[in-house]
Amino acid sequence: MTACRLRETHVVVFGFIVLMCICFSSIFYLPKNEETIFSLELHSGRPGARHVNVARDQKALYEKIEKANIPPPPMPETIKESQIADMGTSTPEGKRNKIKEMMKFAWDGYRQYAWGSNELKPISKIGHSSSVFGRGELGATIVDALDTLWIMGLTKEFEEGRKWVEMSLDLKKNARGDLSVFETNIRFVGGLLSAYALTKDGMFLRKAEEVANLLLPAFETTTGIPFSLINLQTGRASNYGWASGGCSILSEFGSLQLEFDYLSNLTGNPVYSQKVEKINNVLAQLDKPEGLVPMYLNPHTGKWGSRDFSMGAMADSYYEYLLKTWLIEGKKNKNYKQWYDDVIKAMENKMLYRSKRDKLQYFANLKGSRVEHKMEHLACFSAGMFALQAKNEASPDARKHYMTLAEEIGRTCHESYARSNTLSIAVSIAELGVGPEAFQFLNENEEAMTSRDKYYILRPEVLEGWFYLWRMTKDEKYRRWAWDMAEALEKNSRVGAGFSGIRDVYASTPDHDDVQQSFLLAETFKYLYLIFDDDSMKLDEWVFNTEAHAFPIRN
Ligand SMILES: *[C@@H]1O[C@H](CO)[C@@H](O)[C@H](O)[C@H]1NC(C)=O
Repeated sequence: MTACRLRETHVVVFGFIVLMCICFSSIFYLPKNEETIFSLELHSGRPGARHVNVARDQKALYEKIEKANIPPPPMPETIKESQIADMGTSTPEGKRNKIKEMMKFAWDGYRQYAWGSNELKPISKIGHSSSVFGRGELGATIVDALDTLWIMGLTKEFEEGRKWVEMSLDLKKNARGDLSVFETNIRFVGGLLSAYALTKDGMFLRKAEEVANLLLPAFETTTGIPFSLINLQTGRASNYGWASGGCSILSEFGSLQLEFDYLSNLTGNPVYSQKVEKINNVLAQLDKPEGLVPMYLNPHTGKWGSRDFSMGAMADSYYEYLLKTWLIEGKKNKNYKQWYDDVIKAMENKMLYRSKRDKLQYFANLKGSRVEHKMEHLACFSAGMFALQAKNEASPDARKHYMTLAEEIGRTCHESYARSNTLSIAVSIAELGVGPEAFQFLNENEEAMTSRDKYYILRPEVLEGWFYLWRMTKDEKYRRWAWDMAEALEKNSRVGAGFSGIRDVYASTPDHDDVQQSFLLAETFKYLYLIFDDDSMKLDEWVFNTEAHAFPIRN
């Protein structure tokens, strides 16, 4: 009896000690914020204890890095907290600081309420992880935000993110369900490679390689055209049923090259480059209906699916990556520029229209032989692409032609941000600086910027166009438009703990969707910041991937 009771006591005491250990050690894996520091100091009765531990952690981290012969990342200049937001916004510097404050707000909300989840629900103040990355908690916002934090000089935040990536980023272990190969590539591989490019911290490169390796089974098809989805637990890859009967999608398999080539270049392992080269070989041999490239391709038969064409969803970044692959290799491989020129010329012939009343140019979608007079927010990225092309053309005629086209598309997309639903009486959100997911040109005499696609989910493409146009033309209106957008975000999207999408931009008050998309931090805030900062991330040194992650031009 006594022995038995003794043993029970042992178990209780032992269990208690284990519990205490877990509690204590878990402290160090919490995101750092003022509240936890405060409460910890209260309980431990040792003011500054956490700071000491953080410093020790950091020291150990750097020792580890040094042992592995990887130089610790150089620190960008730190800004004082007091400098943020309180210097007025009349100068570019003031505007940059305001945008930095918005970025910090979005990050802090995520850190406090959703750390480790993919995204934040800023009203509910909880994590949001059901998206293009399955159901797993993969920290998409952290990886997507890293280079923006670095560029803005938000050093402390960057270090928190860096540490999470080193300790906790593990897609193999944490992924659940199907991941989009494309999204995982542009956000995770792209974000990690960009963080590496900026800091030369080898940990990011190793993580990028790790993620890319997990995607490789998706390329095991008859043609080498990869599947859209991959389950990392089972390694099983598949396509969406809705994609023209299980086809792969042009914008997805056509937007791997910048990341995969850079990864091969950095690691010396040619396998990634070989995968994308195989895709190019298949595409080069295929017949292009009237010079256009359809958005669906069957990865088993190597035949096109339905004859649908677009400058927007399902196609967009394919064109972008042709141009940028040519640029990032120092314009050495003329094939990419040729493929780009061929398809763009065909699209100008078949898909570029001008509205009757206001003479706005836009790219329509083609569904078979039917023309859909609708331009998507996503397609507005093309303003930036044409501006970048124009700057890099050798012939003055081509420079002029594509710069004009870029400015025209930039203007059309601005109209979608500045017009309201003609039926609404009150001033709408769209009149104040952010526009809808898509806008239609309905009939002969009138452009109705209304459609079922009335929502705005914090997307960057319209702004991205103005960013390139500003850098190339220095026309002040692009900065004005960008600032209107920043103010519209502040007024309509800023909610409890971050920024939210809006369900109807034609309403006068916002109905929020309660999702802070990770691309707000990767792209929208980065382009907003850089449009007011001409001295960093110069376009003859850097190429941005389609998630605004930056890779250096390899001359
Ligand atoms: C990476 O790119 C640089 C610059 O073009 C080049 O000199 C180098 O040989 C490349 N490395 C590999 C492994 O391809």
